[in-house]
Amino acid sequence: MPFRPPAAFAAALAALILTPLTAAAPAAAQDKDGQSPNLKLVLPAVDAERGRQLFITKGCVYCHAVNGVGGKAAPALDSDAAEPIVNLTDFAARMWGGAPAMIELQEMDLGYQIQLSGDELAHLAAFANDPAEQKKLAEDQVPELMREWYLDEVPTAQ
Ligand code: HEC
Repeated sequence: MPFRPPAAFAAALAALILTPLTAAAPAAAQDKDGQSPNLKLVLPAVDAERGRQLFITKGCVYCHAVNGVGGKAAPALDSDAAEPIVNLTDFAARMWGGAPAMIELQEMDLGYQIQLSGDELAHLAAFANDPAEQKKLAEDQVPELMREWYLDEVPTAQ
């Protein structure tokens, strides 16, 4: 099921998107809310169900657990919010923060660095913020071969 943002979020988003169209062109580069009237913002569609699938197929599940499914080498990515609010930039920033450790571990244990498109990142962010979709993640959705490769601790470099 595609992710449907709560109404308040949708309204805020609409305001953000419509601002450049409706605002009378101010002399300054930014208006009073700090928005550039010329800003063209592209927002990818988010789909938490696609995110749940990508969480497995992209291999996040090797190191991260959700709903108790997955490895324990990295922090669990269970959502602690009751209401799903997908903040894409916040999610990307959190991944950026974890990137050095993540990439090193991926190269050591998977032998490659996981590649993600912008859309895929958006779906993963939606999944990380959707408690209902997270509850649907079950062990039997992860191929057996992958389950054998769950990383439960950070290996020490030799
Ligand atoms: C090989 C292991 C590994 C894989 C695979 C992996 N991660 Fe990570 N990830 C880590 C580790 C370790 C950290 C913690 C880094 C730190 O604490 O500095 C982390 C941190 C994160 C964080 C920040 C957590 C926080 O709350 O600060 C996010 C978000 C994240 N990973 C998302 C993902 C996603 C999405 C995928 C799949 C596309 C993925 N990770 C794949 C090991 C991995």
